[in-house]
Amino acid sequence: MINETMNICICGIGPGHVDYIYKAVFAEVDKAQVLIGGKRQLDIFPHSSAIKCVFDGKTAHLKETIQQNSHLYMVVLVSGDTGFHSLRRFLVDAFPKANIKLLPGISSFQYLYAKLGMGYENALLTSIHGTDVDFINKLADYDSLFLLTDSKNNYKSIANRLIDCGYGHYMMFVGKNLSYPNEEIISLPANEIFKLDDSFLLCSVIIKKPN
Ligand SMILES: C[S@@+](CC[C@H](N)C(=O)[O-])C[C@H]1O[C@@H](n2cnc3c(N)ncnc32)[C@H](O)[C@@H]1O
Repeated sequence: MINETMNICICGIGPGHVDYIYKAVFAEVDKAQVLIGGKRQLDIFPHSSAIKCVFDGKTAHLKETIQQNSHLYMVVLVSGDTGFHSLRRFLVDAFPKANIKLLPGISSFQYLYAKLGMGYENALLTSIHGTDVDFINKLADYDSLFLLTDSKNNYKSIANRLIDCGYGHYMMFVGKNLSYPNEEIISLPANEIFKLDDSFLLCSVIIKKPN
């Protein structure tokens, strides 16, 4: 049952292409009086009549925007799924839980594993986006590791770390711009990935233990 006071809906928009967004998200966007998200996410809904607020990466600004519009129905768009390294964590701490509803989306890990025909039953799904996680000591415990990356903690730095630690032969799968027309998936061992020099925007990485 929908709570009457619920006026913030966080929607996962999947990897980005409109074909991978659930219908329920479009219904929420239609209802929205305020639509909040990164530019990439807002651009998906050019026909929405809601007030559009671009999230600039500063959670203090996001909190202010939501407080100022608390009398309106707000939809916050997040990439991938709401439950995997999204603004959900910040929003549920900043606002009463009863005001927030979540609509899941297809995560970048689901999309990339599916594209590769692989499963993630014994995978570690984690992130080095904006944070330094020591993923090397996790390699022994899982069949594969999935990592969200950023421009600093990128696939090249992952490859360098693997090589330095003697894992240069481990396969890496780099998913760039997943779901978009310029999607590219590179499948090479770390020893080869490390030679590539490219843009590190919008990339997700799987490291696979040799069979
Ligand atoms: C803040 S995290 C959000 C993760 C998201 N909640 C999810 O479930 O995938 C942003 C990171 O997700 C990954 N990502 C999101 N969209 C992507 C795409 N289309 N292609 C590749 N990686 C993507 C990148 O690693 C990016 O730096």
